[in-house]
Amino acid sequence: MLNFLIAVTVAELAVGVTGLDNGLALTPPMGWLAWQRYRCITDCETYPDECVSEKLFMKAADLLVSEGYADAGYKYLIVDDCWLAKNRSADGKLEADKTRFPSGIKALADYVHSKGLKFGLYQDWGEKTCAGYPGVRGKEEMDAKQFAEWEVDYVKLDGCYSNVRDMDRGYVEFGQHLNQTGRPMVYSCSWPAYQEDKGMRINYALMAKHCNLWRNYGDIDDSWTSVTAISDYFAMKQEFWAQYAGPGHWNDPDMLLIGNFGLSFDQSKSQMAIWTVLAAPLMMSNNLSNVCPEFKEILQNKEIIKISQDALGIQGTRVFKDKGIDIWTRPVEPVHHGNYSYAVAFVSRREDGAPTPYKITLEDLGLKHHFGYTIKNLFDKPTSNITIHFALPKTVVRVRVIPSGVVFLRFDVIATKLREDDIYNGALNKTVTFI
Ligand SMILES: *[C@@H]1O[C@H](CO)[C@@H](O)[C@H](O)[C@H]1NC(C)=O
Ligand SMILES: *[C@@H]1O[C@H](CO)[C@@H](O)[C@H](O)[C@H]1NC(C)=O
Ligand SMILES: *[C@@H]1O[C@H](CO)[C@@H](O)[C@H](O)[C@H]1NC(C)=O
Ligand SMILES: *[C@@H]1O[C@H](CO)[C@@H](O)[C@H](O)[C@H]1NC(C)=O
Ligand SMILES: *[C@@H]1O[C@H](CO)[C@@H](O)[C@H](O)[C@H]1NC(C)=O
Ligand SMILES: *[C@@H]1O[C@H](CO)[C@@H](O)[C@H](O)[C@H]1NC(C)=O
Repeated sequence: MLNFLIAVTVAELAVGVTGLDNGLALTPPMGWLAWQRYRCITDCETYPDECVSEKLFMKAADLLVSEGYADAGYKYLIVDDCWLAKNRSADGKLEADKTRFPSGIKALADYVHSKGLKFGLYQDWGEKTCAGYPGVRGKEEMDAKQFAEWEVDYVKLDGCYSNVRDMDRGYVEFGQHLNQTGRPMVYSCSWPAYQEDKGMRINYALMAKHCNLWRNYGDIDDSWTSVTAISDYFAMKQEFWAQYAGPGHWNDPDMLLIGNFGLSFDQSKSQMAIWTVLAAPLMMSNNLSNVCPEFKEILQNKEIIKISQDALGIQGTRVFKDKGIDIWTRPVEPVHHGNYSYAVAFVSRREDGAPTPYKITLEDLGLKHHFGYTIKNLFDKPTSNITIHFALPKTVVRVRVIPSGVVFLRFDVIATKLREDDIYNGALNKTVTFI
């Protein structure tokens, strides 16, 4: 058990990293990003609704608002690869594909802004984007200015067709060009994902200073296998990576799959819980007009989004792996005399039939605040009143986790010693059960 307590301590000491100072992404950015669901569908004749086009993004902007996602916090609408014309214009400028974006990027940005949303755009630091469209290489300053003219709020800069060894310089330089435009733009970098792939040592301190978020690992695919591969990799690297996360600078495990084809209802809850503990950006990538109500409830769960957006911005870690149950914890506000409140996710990695019972004391989870904690089950139905439980460090938490599912709890520190002694006596050695 000592091992996992050490991991918690590392996360709690995650202070002192100097982040990018553009005033943006002080909490993990939330929004919608086209890639996972729509990839590079460009054949609008055969797939008129799904092709990467202004129509797709205008519809998504409408739905972000009308379906309640914008109010829940999902503010960024981000265009990914395949928006560009195959060549730059005669005067060397970037241009959108004229058939799929007949009104141009500025008009799309205006539309997105008119909905009260923020507009994001994809580019690539190399010669070409990953799908083979013109990249920014050689025209970095001009393109950064172009983004500002178009009133872009968020730039996702990929790394295909570029020199991986030169990325530290190149990404920093592009960030400076963005800065010099005077328009604050969230800067999403991909350089660690490429360097990680080549087994290089990565300068995360430099990254946190120059990027608001960065993709550490390969692209997510629409499956539970992909979710677990990414979360295992994050767990493996957590003692190194977590310290670089904080307000304005985040590790990015890639998009949420929720509402798509690949995850079951319970696997969707698991991804939402793990991503929230990781202080990850929450970027949906789904057909917003076609998300079943129960999946929408996961995405719009207010209690969970509150944890995702916790002002301390501490990235949580996987603190324990036992009997097929992964336990993830994230310190959050409120804090009392150095004792944090916590979000704790019990994620089942099992695939056998019955729910797995698991029990552990708060103390063994690293929760040692003498005055105790209140506990909320974060997936309690929002329509019923959430039951608040009370527990002390010695209290045993019992959960039953269904295969590939999650029990996600919030422990809030109690600030002043409660008066009634019987509350304490009652909680001592008690067991609270969550399913
Ligand atoms: C979303 O789903 C609806 C209902 O299945 C379908 O009619 C529509 O074409 C889809 N839109 C996109 C953009 O995938
Ligand atoms: C793009 O430019 C290349 C080389 O300059 C040229 O060969 C090609 O025909 C152009 N493609 C389009 C679609 O204009
Ligand atoms: C540019 O960088 C400076 C120094 O870090 C910062 O104070 C300023 O807010 C940045 N401006 C923009 C537009 O990003
Ligand atoms: C946590 O709170 C307790 C009081 O419940 C206090 O005695 C202890 O010093 C606090 N821990 C830290 C690390 O400050
Ligand atoms: C929730 O609690 C409020 C106030 O205590 C009460 O009026 C209401 O009936 C409760 N709702 C449900 C669904 O239990
Ligand atoms: C709690 O458990 C301990 C050890 O099993 C026991 O000594 C103690 O009396 C118990 N306290 C209460 C209030 O039940």
